[in-house]
Amino acid sequence: MSSRSPERVFYLTTPIYYINGPPHLGHAYTTIVADAMARYRRLAGDDVRLLTGTDEHGDKIAQAAARGGEPPQALADRNAQAFRDEWDALGITHDDFIRTTEPRHARVVQDILQALFDKGEIYFGKYGGSYCFGCERFYTDKEIVDGKCPDHQTPLTYIEEENYFFRMSVYQEWLRGYLERHPDVVQPDRYRNELLGFLREPLQDLSISRPTSRLQWGIPLPFDDRFVTYVWFDALLNYVSALGGPGAEDFRRYWPHVHHLIGKDILKPHGIYWPCMLKAAGLLRDDEARAELPGFARLRVHGYWTLGGGKISKSVGNVVEALALTRKYGNDAFRYFVLREMPFGQDANFTEDALVERLNADLANDLGNLVSRATTLIAAHAAKAPAGRVLTRDPGLEGAFRKGRAAVDAAMAEFAFHRALAAIWELITVVNQYVDSQQPWALAKDPGQTDRLVTVLGSLAEALRCLGLLLLPFVPESAARIRAAVGDRTEATLAAADFGRPWRSPEDLTAVQRLTGLFPRVDRTADTPTAGTPAATGPAGTATPTGRISIDEFKRLDLRVAEVVAAEPVPKSKKLLKLTIRLGDESRTIVAGIAEHYPPDALVGRKVVVVANLEPATLMGVASNGMVLAGSAGDALALLALDRDLPSGAKVR
Ligand code: MSP
Repeated sequence: MSSRSPERVFYLTTPIYYINGPPHLGHAYTTIVADAMARYRRLAGDDVRLLTGTDEHGDKIAQAAARGGEPPQALADRNAQAFRDEWDALGITHDDFIRTTEPRHARVVQDILQALFDKGEIYFGKYGGSYCFGCERFYTDKEIVDGKCPDHQTPLTYIEEENYFFRMSVYQEWLRGYLERHPDVVQPDRYRNELLGFLREPLQDLSISRPTSRLQWGIPLPFDDRFVTYVWFDALLNYVSALGGPGAEDFRRYWPHVHHLIGKDILKPHGIYWPCMLKAAGLLRDDEARAELPGFARLRVHGYWTLGGGKISKSVGNVVEALALTRKYGNDAFRYFVLREMPFGQDANFTEDALVERLNADLANDLGNLVSRATTLIAAHAAKAPAGRVLTRDPGLEGAFRKGRAAVDAAMAEFAFHRALAAIWELITVVNQYVDSQQPWALAKDPGQTDRLVTVLGSLAEALRCLGLLLLPFVPESAARIRAAVGDRTEATLAAADFGRPWRSPEDLTAVQRLTGLFPRVDRTADTPTAGTPAATGPAGTATPTGRISIDEFKRLDLRVAEVVAAEPVPKSKKLLKLTIRLGDESRTIVAGIAEHYPPDALVGRKVVVVANLEPATLMGVASNGMVLAGSAGDALALLALDRDLPSGAKVR
């Protein structure tokens, strides 16, 4: 089976990230996913183009710059560089990095705006409505919750102004029909259903301008310089401007093969605005004319990482800290964890404990041990192989690799990275079992078994060579080390990962070098906890052998009943609330990641359970002194409550 098909072209984009802050876990996840996919398709022989970049205009950026007392361009320059540096540090292999403040982008945005205006797709009108500055969009009455933005839980501002509008409403039926007829354009399927859900409500025309009296930080409308372009209309077009715009050579080559990788938070602009914009601009083909344009800008949508829902002992406090764990554990371990842990499309919880668990179990134990024992055995006994003879391989392994490769291919076709890795790890298990059952160390002691020994060692070398190739997209640095250890200097291709290709001779076997410690085990009882960690688990040695804690260790937790006296959102955070609580006579501030589950007002006056002796930590600039306890399962979260009243400060045991 070969996945090599030189004709295939693959254009993959990430969202362009806002530069009002530095890169964090969420941005890194999407970019790592995109990179793994791009590397996989390149390995398969495709002509791949991977685009990422930064979204630099709009209110959000203008306000962040104003708060910091600097011009928006200076803020943009600094943070765009921070994104570039982070991607370099993570080894991301993007082919282009676009910034929306670049002239090459502004030119295409203005050209397309002018063309749409000339075609009558854009008109001047007046609109009044409730506006959220955080989301940079108007909310309809149906979407508003308790008079507030459903995302930010902040009050909305009523704004009435004259603006230019894109006639999006006329595309409603076209879009609905398209989504219904083509289930593959939005994956996983639940996100297509979500879009169809949006389309059950009448689609409004889209305001695509902002008056310069209110906002100057944007691309001027080419037909009226009293306005700048609405940031989403500007941002989405990066996918086209980075190819040089309609008509450019790269556009003709790559645009028909576009796949947009996005998080579920930006499904609506990508699944509703964007196809309508493309349709209006003539950048999508119609169903009938199956020509050179894509039928739809295909969307591949992933879920959200949440923090701290798991074990409280050593969880990370925020998304920037989570990304910093790449420095602590290495890029490959981090990549492996995020790709393996999150089923593509669903939410997952990020904890340092879970990362370390996978590092120790999957990487150090399964993969690292296999590489170490196999290369050690080969290096020790390769000289026994009779020269000048082609090595034979065990057919059992060949079948396993054939099946494994097909499973990886099928999973990658669906962006199911977790399944692709599970399939590779099944192979690793098969090869580890092969070593156990064949016992090459015993064969080596028996001169009558030399032939058998050489077959086993040759099969192991071949298995490592294939694994080195299959692992390249996911753990590139370690995979390259495996390839080097088995002496494979040939061009890396997926097609070459066919187990049993007749290339290996006994001389090759002697070129194999011992590779140990590919992923050293991490002992977390010995390491320093990250911010905001309680001392719930004792130092090394105090835990009982079963992994349970003693009653004395439990008693170190100071759990108390507390009364919430005030609650407000933490600025710029979707998830965090700042709570003022009373603990007996004492008043404290606690930051809790519950904003998506409880409106602040609903909490005031409630009794909750808190960990009172937690080390203080600063979250999004707010000092937090303690932790509120809640249960969680998947997306659901519930605060612990008392089933009858007790005074605040009461001890929980
Ligand atoms: N600038 C817009 C996108 C414009 S695209 C034309 C934007 N930027 S953003 O900086 O907020 O990045 C949003 C994206 O970052 C999400 O769609 C997702 O890809 C990623 N993530 C941010 N936080 C995330 C998690 N907690 N979990 C997973 N990914 C998330 O929106």
